[in-house]
Amino acid sequence: MFEIGYGARPYRLIAMINLGIDSFGVDLDAPLLSFRIGDFLQIYRKNGGERLLKSLLRFLIGDIAETRQIRRMIEGSGGQFHIPRERFLVGDAAEVLAHVDGVDVFLSEDVFEHIPRKFLGLVVARMATILPPHGIAIIRPNVITGISGGHRVEWFQANIGKRWCAGWSEPWGHLRAPCLTGDTYLNKLTRADYRSLFEEHFTILHEQEKLPGLGSSYLTDAIAHELARFSRDELFSNQVLFVLGRKRPLTASEVF
Ligand SMILES: C[S@@+](CC[C@H](N)C(=O)[O-])C[C@H]1O[C@@H](n2cnc3c(N)ncnc32)[C@H](O)[C@@H]1O
Repeated sequence: MFEIGYGARPYRLIAMINLGIDSFGVDLDAPLLSFRIGDFLQIYRKNGGERLLKSLLRFLIGDIAETRQIRRMIEGSGGQFHIPRERFLVGDAAEVLAHVDGVDVFLSEDVFEHIPRKFLGLVVARMATILPPHGIAIIRPNVITGISGGHRVEWFQANIGKRWCAGWSEPWGHLRAPCLTGDTYLNKLTRADYRSLFEEHFTILHEQEKLPGLGSSYLTDAIAHELARFSRDELFSNQVLFVLGRKRPLTASEVF
């Protein structure tokens, strides 16, 4: 199993490894896996001082407790908790995948929307050449056209409607005024764009948004009219799960 963009809190990958699944992954940013001077230096060298400070704060505030919880779960089910650092590759997926082989399952959550289009094309093409015929890719980007697609925290499911962030930005504000995205790079691929990109190399076996109808009570007639260029299926996208299988060869009846 190979995870693309395991993130600053790589619990999914840690869990896979500790469940005995032969897993590894890559992220642009070096993770802070434990309190070791070497890890701090690696983050500082690769990602600079600001990222180091953020990682340090997050580590002290949450990561220690969360890692302890995972350790307890693994050890409670008879496993031996370990974090093999060599399985956490650091680099750009578009480059690193050129040197990867022998993967049966690709996994990626909340990452593809952050990879520039031309590199994403390389990533998807490379995944297709690496995967064997029985392999699958489970990819879940947060799609730009959904209410949370602009990555504004006030429109994430957990915060929608909370008084502290009500009125911070208009619903689907990032589609109506494109500068209104959160503080992160977004490639702005729509759900239809992902379908086309994936279908160049894969068959889409399954597609499902995580939170059907997220934001529906905010889609007034006026907003629906303003965003009429987007289908409902786009506007109610959020984290959309795409399960991809290798394209099967055409049968004789399909060819002729
Ligand atoms: C929003 S986080 C999601 C992290 C994790 N998948 C999760 O579910 O918590 C996006 C991650 O993608 C990583 N990322 C973005 N572009 C990447 C690239 N080209 N190659 C590898 N990782 C990338 C970022 O460094 C970041 O850790």
